[in-house]
Amino acid sequence: DVGHIDDVQELWRTKPTTVPERFVRDVTERPTTLDSTTTQSSPHTDIPIIDLSKLVMNGNPDDFKSEILNLTTACQDWGFFQVVNHGIDLGLLESIEKVAKDFFMLPLEEKQKYPMDMKAIQGYGQAFVFSENQKIDWCNMFALGLEPEFVKRPELLPSKPADFSETLESYSREVKKLCKNLLKYIAVTVGLKEDVFEEMFGDVVYGVRMNYYPPCSRPDLVNGLSPHSDGSAITVLQQQGKGSYAGLQILKDNTWVPVQPILNALVVNIGDTIQVLTNGKYKSVEHRAVTHKEKDRLSITTFYSPGFKIELGPMPEFVDENNPCKYKRYIHGEYSKHYITNKLRGKKNLDFVKI
Ligand code: SIN
Ligand code: FE2
Repeated sequence: DVGHIDDVQELWRTKPTTVPERFVRDVTERPTTLDSTTTQSSPHTDIPIIDLSKLVMNGNPDDFKSEILNLTTACQDWGFFQVVNHGIDLGLLESIEKVAKDFFMLPLEEKQKYPMDMKAIQGYGQAFVFSENQKIDWCNMFALGLEPEFVKRPELLPSKPADFSETLESYSREVKKLCKNLLKYIAVTVGLKEDVFEEMFGDVVYGVRMNYYPPCSRPDLVNGLSPHSDGSAITVLQQQGKGSYAGLQILKDNTWVPVQPILNALVVNIGDTIQVLTNGKYKSVEHRAVTHKEKDRLSITTFYSPGFKIELGPMPEFVDENNPCKYKRYIHGEYSKHYITNKLRGKKNLDFVKI
């Protein structure tokens, strides 16, 4: 049964000391920088932290100004930042982590009632796997589309744990609010009016993906999640705070920088949409996940994207003699369709809309 062999959690049950060929990467694709709790983090190598409590539209104007400046640097120099004081109930963050973990810990037979639909990238299993001889990541995923209505797949909503749906609904409602607010502040950082993205995006496409990385005896040979940039406008990532390790790494100035987990913070990154709209001023940064010899890790990613029918291209505000237009105009839904095929060919989707 191929499903069994490919399921990393099932594999890990037997604590194998070797890693099956299917997961072993070519030398050039192996993660050379692994986490470590031993690597000292320094202010220089840590991604910026944004205090959302200072970004209240009618709050203290000095706080607002200085935090907008921090956000500008974060978007321009990093494409990634951690948000603290985000206003989302901390109990809710714990609950979503718990239901996600409880789901992954169910017997395989139970999880396989919701098999991954490769076209929609929804359900349980491995995303982006289309052939027997393709290398795969050391990760199990469970993904669900949440909005608009037509992307929803109710038959993929797990009945166990019992509070899964309810928790996901509350969680995604809160994260959506956060995404909308972040897009407002991002607009402010580039001198645009705050509702510009919301007005442009139409029926936003919104979904969640839970990623579970069991320990791996040879983290040096496998990818937890292969390097990629996100096709979204923005992505919000919750990573396990307690007892985990810095599994997420981002590519900065050609170096993989680990993102140190901060308890109760959320990691936010700029996706391809914002890179295109700002004509490359803000970058959709490449990132990946690595595994650990003894520790497992859970992350929950929420993707916030424009409606499928929306036409995108660099906004005129970012194009002038010194900044020629870098991207062609395209329909977002078409762009999304190519994401998977391009990923399989080892290509970046963004490269195909470059001028
Ligand atoms: C992702 O890029 O979707 C998740 C990476 C992670 O697990 O931190
Ligand atoms: Fe990602």
